[in-house]
Amino acid sequence: MRTNIVHIGASELNYEIRRIADTANEVLRLTGKPIIWENIGDPVQKGERIPPWIKEIIGRASQDDCAYAYCPTRGLEATREFLAARLNARGGVQITADDILFFNGLGDAVTKVYNLLRREARVIGPSPSYPTHSSAEAAHAGSAPITYRLLPAQGWMPDLDELRNRIKYNESIAGLMIINPDNPTGAVFPRAVVREMVRLAREFNLFIVADEIYSNMVYDHSDYAPLSDLIEDVPALALKGISKEVPWPGSRCGWIEVYNQQKRPMFRRYVRSLLDAKMLEVCSTTLPQMVIPELFGHSEFPAWQGARNRRFESRAQRATEIMSQCPGVIVNKPGGAFYVTTVFTEDLNPSMHLRIEDSRVEGYIRHLCPPGVQLDRKFAYELLGAHNLCVVPLTGFMTELLGFRTTLLETDEAVFEATYRTLAGAVREFIESS
Ligand SMILES: Cc1ncc(COP(=O)(O)O)c(C=O)c1O
Repeated sequence: MRTNIVHIGASELNYEIRRIADTANEVLRLTGKPIIWENIGDPVQKGERIPPWIKEIIGRASQDDCAYAYCPTRGLEATREFLAARLNARGGVQITADDILFFNGLGDAVTKVYNLLRREARVIGPSPSYPTHSSAEAAHAGSAPITYRLLPAQGWMPDLDELRNRIKYNESIAGLMIINPDNPTGAVFPRAVVREMVRLAREFNLFIVADEIYSNMVYDHSDYAPLSDLIEDVPALALKGISKEVPWPGSRCGWIEVYNQQKRPMFRRYVRSLLDAKMLEVCSTTLPQMVIPELFGHSEFPAWQGARNRRFESRAQRATEIMSQCPGVIVNKPGGAFYVTTVFTEDLNPSMHLRIEDSRVEGYIRHLCPPGVQLDRKFAYELLGAHNLCVVPLTGFMTELLGFRTTLLETDEAVFEATYRTLAGAVREFIESS
């Protein structure tokens, strides 16, 4: 090309969660046997049924011609009023409808949040981390993400000393990112931890980005509170959506709540750029916004949500029981969201492997695992080849920890049990094979 057309951050874009699906589809083609998909956090794809009352609300809205129109750039006024009133009733930070901005799913919001920062301004995020955040942040800066560790041996709590030091000695850090409840670990950070992060942000004059897409999916009755309860006067963006909660990932509907923009002119200017960028796109999906007040306000919603969370809790319990019987791994029982992360504590070596009976599949998988491949990736690919089971290697989540992420979404109890037993057997076989 006449001039280099590749963005400086192009190599930072990496979404292993979907990338591994290409490999799984090839294994499906070669074997003709169905894949057990444990890679994607889509409850509907995993067989969760949408309750009739939710379908009725959405069906009724689809009869209204307004559902086919553009909506205001920020989002429907009535829905933003509803969400702001609900938040204000908690008694924490207070917002108006104009502090809410709708996006085409949080994926869209996350990309804009980082893209619109000045190139030199960095946001420190957790490791492991949901790759949409870490990749978008790194791509915006054109260099590797800046991270703080979540510690598997301490229930995935953040290493707050490391976080403080990283912030203190890196002047370019302007923001602090937290995912709570967390993807991929399922950790729920107690109030004291979040308060400490808020204190750090205040001390170093940072803003906070809090991804709270799982905020109503906390099931260990832990000491959880949304950021709005704890933020006090620190500027922040809280990211929320309906992909997981309704669940309606195909709606492509999420929103940002902006806290404390009034007192911070630079933060307010940055938030204005998020709105201006959205204006260039006109607006976000209308129909899902129309139904949010009726869905969240429905008399059946609290009981339905409670029962759903109890199901995740009992699956979390069972998955943790099975996986923690494996030698050579750490598994922390998730307290929220619907993921489980298993970390190898045993030193892995390249001679470790899983037996793959089908020689064509074996050849294909071996070709994907050349010498030097990360060993959790080798495990995940061989697991696909040996058992048609698709998990995400942990190194796909911006961490050097080796392991894998699975979900709590399987609706068929027998399949759920068999999946985790297969996983536990594969971990044992891999570790003992060297
Ligand atoms: C932590 C987190 N944030 C954002 C998203 C993206 O959500 P959306 O479907 O609204 O784009 C996901 C999806 O898995 C997620 O886990």
